Parts: sequence; C-alpha cells; structure tokens
Amino acid sequence: MSKVLVTCGTGYIGSHTVVELQQEGHEVIVVDNLFNSDIEVLNGIEKITGIRPTFENIDCTDYVGMDRMFERHKNIDAIIHFAAYKAVGESVEKPLLYYRNNILSLVNLLQLMPVHKIKHLVFSSSCTVYGQPDILPVTENSPFKPALSPYGNTKQICEEIIRDTIHSNSFYHSIVLRYFNPIGAHPSAEIGELPNGVPNNLLPFITQTAIGIRKQLLVYGNDYNTPDGTCIRDYIDVVDLAKAHVSALNRMLNHQQKNNLEVFNLGTGRGLSVLEIIKMFEKVNNVKVPYKIVGRREGDIEKVWADPSYANKELGWKAQRPLEETLRSAWEWEKKLAERSKQTA
Ligand code: WQD
Repeated sequence: MSKVLVTCGTGYIGSHTVVELQQEGHEVIVVDNLFNSDIEVLNGIEKITGIRPTFENIDCTDYVGMDRMFERHKNIDAIIHFAAYKAVGESVEKPLLYYRNNILSLVNLLQLMPVHKIKHLVFSSSCTVYGQPDILPVTENSPFKPALSPYGNTKQICEEIIRDTIHSNSFYHSIVLRYFNPIGAHPSAEIGELPNGVPNNLLPFITQTAIGIRKQLLVYGNDYNTPDGTCIRDYIDVVDLAKAHVSALNRMLNHQQKNNLEVFNLGTGRGLSVLEIIKMFEKVNNVKVPYKIVGRREGDIEKVWADPSYANKELGWKAQRPLEETLRSAWEWEKKLAERSKQTA
C-alpha cells in the first residue's frame, strides 16, 4: 500500500480520514501544529485501528520545518492537505491570520512536492466557494460567487493556486474535494468533532445544548425563502467524507485520473433546514434542544446542497450513512466527551 502525509491529521475530518487510510492498509504520517486540535486524538485513532500514526508537530506555514520533515520521511506517495483555519466568523475578524495560514501552508506544500518527488495532492476545499448558487443542486461546474468571508476566499484562492501550478507543471496531480456540511462522529465514539470554545457550527452547538453545556441554541433567522424559513444545507457524515478521501487517493495512485486536476463535490444531494435537523436530532436521541429564533448571521447563505453524481460515478463513492445514525453518533460522542471531562475534573 502507499505512504500518505495527512496535514491536520488530528483535526475533525483529518482524524477520521487517518482511520480509513490505516484500515485500508496505508501508512500514515500526521503533521499538525495542534493549534486547533488535541494530541489525544492520536490515542483515539490507535484505539480504533491499533496503529498509532507517526506524528510530527509542525506548522505547515514553516517551510524549513516542513522541508526537514520530508527529509526524515522519504518515499511519501501522496499528501492529503486539511490544514486550514475554517471558522467563517473568525475569518471576518482576523482576515490576515486566515490568508497567511491557509494560503502559505498550501504554497509551501506545492513548492516542496517536486523537491521531495511527491506528485499527488488531495486538497480539502469547501462548498463555500460557490457562495449562494443561482441554480440548485450545485455541480462542480457551478460558478464561484464572490466569497462572503475571507475563509471562503482562501478556499477559492487555493483552488486557483492549484489550478495555475498544475497548468505550469504537469509533474503535479491533484484532486480537490469540495465538502458540504460535515457532521457526526466515528461509530466507536473514540474520535469526533472537538470545537475550540463556543462552537461555530450547528451540530456541535446542538449536542452541547442537549447535554447542558449551552443554555439554548440560537437559530440564526427564520425569514429565509425556504419551507420553514430557516437555512438549508447538505449535511454529510464525516465517515462518509473520510472514505471519499481514500477513494480520491486510490484514483490518483492507480492512475485513473482523466486529467491532472479533478474536482468533486462531496455531499448527499439532500438539503435539510436547521429546524429539520433540530427536530430529527431530538427524535433520534430522545432529548430536547431548547432553541430561540434570532436574527440572521452575517455571511450565511440561504440554501445550498450538492449534486454528488459526478463523485458517485467517477470516484465510485456515495454517502451511505443514514442521517439518523449520524445524529446518534454525534450525541454518543458528546456524551463520551462529558464522561471524559468528569474523569479528568
Ligand atoms: C449551518 C446552518 C447557520 C450555528 C460552514 C463553513 C463550511 C463548512 C461547514 C468547512 C446555518 C445555522 C449554525 C448556530 C444556527 N466548513 N446555525 N445556529 O456556515 O453552513 O458552513 O461549516 O468545510 O465551509 O462555511 O455551517 O454549521 O455554521 O451553519 O442557526 O449556533 O446552521 O445559520 O444556516 P455553514 P454552520
């Protein structure tokens, strides 16, 4: 099998992808600066797979540090690059932090790949690049809209950097994966989402409200042009998402790419509103989530969901996990976190 470098491999999607890679027999090296994640995650990965990935505590914006790391780990076949800051609201407050981190980390990797003879890159992008699409569902050919946040802009810029780099040098092969809204946790409840401080995203806020960490969920607006007035998103299970990365990696390593740069939407094709998610979470887990409707959140788009048919066909990948199971896994993970904090208190 192959040797894969995973940046931000102790992060939410990164850690779930490391598990899937290891379970398929790939050797994994994790690079992470632990800015937004916890080294404990390596224990969770090891409990699931029995293999503790090699770990390098390095910041991807540190060119020299990354170069030396590649000297230590020869014959890497591919890089899966997750490392990026991703809080939309924070990016509006701290744009330079986002531009420097998200763009420089990618540029460093692209400069170092030919130096260390690494041809393949899977890049973590986001449906944010589409902004508010005029036509739904969104396909890979849907146009970019002006980004509504520096975070979204960094994803658009990074995709253009990859496109220009590949256009200039056929050495590189890349697959760009545009995630919709990742949710849920591994069925083992050994790894899951670890939001830093107050969660930005809906699901961790729901689970923290259900367990009593948060008093109530604020629903940002119910005056949108949707059936119940709340925003619609395509919520995709994090394990399904992780499996798509393994499919993309295998496609590159088995030389199945139709050209050196391919882009895939990773969604379920199903749009659900905020209120629908809340109600389903309560039903599946038999808990209450107190919430209050408040004003809209700046930067939110009204509705977006994927047309995942291209990924289904070309990657041979399809979101499998029933939403009920995903929402259950999110709740099991939150309860596991509560147990752990009691033990360490
Ligand atoms: C979803 C819906 C909120 C919190 C972001 C990134 C995207 C991707 C996923 C990386 C919206 C509503 C939320 C709350 C709420 N990240 N909401 N109360 O903004 O769609 O996408 O995360 O790949 O790139 O932009 O996700 O979970 O923040 O919001 O009402 O406390 O839930 O208004 O309608 P979003 P989200």
